[in-house]
Amino acid sequence: MKTPLTFIDLFCGCGGFSLGLLRAGLKGLAAIDFNHEAIQVFQANFKGIGQILEKDLTTFSPAELESLLGTSEVDLIVGGPPCQGFSTARQADGANHGERLKEDPRRHLYKEFLRHVAHFKPKVFVIENVLGIRSASGGAYFSKVQAEARALGYRVHAQIEDCVDLGVPQKRRRQLFIGTREEFPAYFRSELKAAKRAVIGATLWDAIGDLPPLKAGEGEEDCEYDHERRFKMLPTMSADYLFDVLEVKKAARLTAHRARPHSARDLSDFMLLTEGESSAEAMRRSVKFEFPYDKSSFKDRYTRQHRNRPCSTIVAHLAKDGLMFIHPTQNRSLTPREAARIQSFPDWFEFPIARTHQFRVIGNAVPPLVGEAVGMAVKSYIEKAMGKRKTIASHLGPFPKDEREAVTWLLPLLDLDSRSLRRIPDTDFKRAWYAIGFIYTGLHPDSALEHGTKVVTDTDAYKSVSQIEPRLHNPYYEQSGWPVILEPVAKEAWRRNQVGLLDDDELYCSAATHRWQRLAIEIQSSSAEFAADVE
Ligand SMILES: C[S@@+](CC[C@H](N)C(=O)[O-])C[C@H]1O[C@@H](n2cnc3c(N)ncnc32)[C@H](O)[C@@H]1O
Repeated sequence: MKTPLTFIDLFCGCGGFSLGLLRAGLKGLAAIDFNHEAIQVFQANFKGIGQILEKDLTTFSPAELESLLGTSEVDLIVGGPPCQGFSTARQADGANHGERLKEDPRRHLYKEFLRHVAHFKPKVFVIENVLGIRSASGGAYFSKVQAEARALGYRVHAQIEDCVDLGVPQKRRRQLFIGTREEFPAYFRSELKAAKRAVIGATLWDAIGDLPPLKAGEGEEDCEYDHERRFKMLPTMSADYLFDVLEVKKAARLTAHRARPHSARDLSDFMLLTEGESSAEAMRRSVKFEFPYDKSSFKDRYTRQHRNRPCSTIVAHLAKDGLMFIHPTQNRSLTPREAARIQSFPDWFEFPIARTHQFRVIGNAVPPLVGEAVGMAVKSYIEKAMGKRKTIASHLGPFPKDEREAVTWLLPLLDLDSRSLRRIPDTDFKRAWYAIGFIYTGLHPDSALEHGTKVVTDTDAYKSVSQIEPRLHNPYYEQSGWPVILEPVAKEAWRRNQVGLLDDDELYCSAATHRWQRLAIEIQSSSAEFAADVE
């Protein structure tokens, strides 16, 4: 690509996602959040992003954003619509699903995100959310996000990402929704790989081992580095994490390393915990805490983290207390700088706001290493997708010439059991699989077998095929959009992929490639926009 891909970051918080995307070589056009402190931090750290806006996305419109930007062209929109409305913590007490579902307006913020997608029509969008979105309200929201994005012309791939795999020393699993315009090939799940700078298997100690020891309540907002201590601790840490991820050499001063005070009772309770132990575990070995536990409804109160393991998920709740984040070897909870390092923020990243807010914006952030991996994946995806506009792998095809022909290829496979499907000859099966891709341009192969349970029969889409065979449209799975009758065929496609009879290009790209072929002809004749971008 000659020019960098551009992005907009909605619900940008302090900028964890943006930082990662910039590191992957993308260019930020705008970042929006309504939280004053988050925007303060964002502004302190990002000079090159044109529009950093403190706006409420329920009232600020995409048209206003377009006029500020002076363009409606953007390659990628990312965002983490707030997740509190979906958090599993609220589900555990029964308040977040079924009869006892509490209406939480934050659940609907994904609609504001999709409003921007509908307006700007980026090539790709990525939503990051907590895993709780999968089960909240019986999975209804998980389905709605996908169904509403499909209705906008996007093929949606839902993927769980484990931050540990991307080099973050933290147990943090998140839900990603990756939407790609339906005329492009399907996004391929293995595109998300750790950034080069990531240190796979990094531990909590790799992230914080060199920082000056503190007692509860000690530390300064801004101080000199203790180079002697770093030198001493270096052999016990990963130098790569320190220099490549935390970029300590680029930071002139150590900031936000300030421990919060704790009550005498909490401090003496912390002393009773061994490294890596929670208070529940300690009680099982008959430790008696001063904190008056009600054993009948006992919930974990304290956890001392372990040096040689990933840390527990850094959460915004750290703003309220740090009891689940006791330092592995010191008698206090983690400082904001330690939390930021565990989130993979570099040391030069400043948080010029009060400590409570520091904890909140850090806990809310997408770890920059994850943002970087997403950025690299999107870049490689778009480059490939644009490339495929030029050439089609020669082994793909044949493709149906129209929907009627596609249905003819597909019909013989309907109602077959798995054994009969296995016996379908290779060429006939591929033709039918391409026919599915051709008809259902918005469906993603990955969601064919992960579709939830809710089945619906209420839309007008795919009318022409359902006139020939109604079951080719209704009923279908609400979450994935896949017609129920096609599930055995999809299962067989996945089986063939696993045993090497259907390669990844064949599994993922057939229809899109074909639709592209038609588009390419249109493009060539009208010498339209895309051609210029490729090279
Ligand atoms: C999970 S955080 C996003 C963190 C961000 N992606 C990062 O990497 O740092 C969600 C953000 O949404 C913001 N937010 C919530 N409601 C909003 C609204 N109506 N308009 C704009 N921002 C909002 C919150 O202030 C919060 O910073």
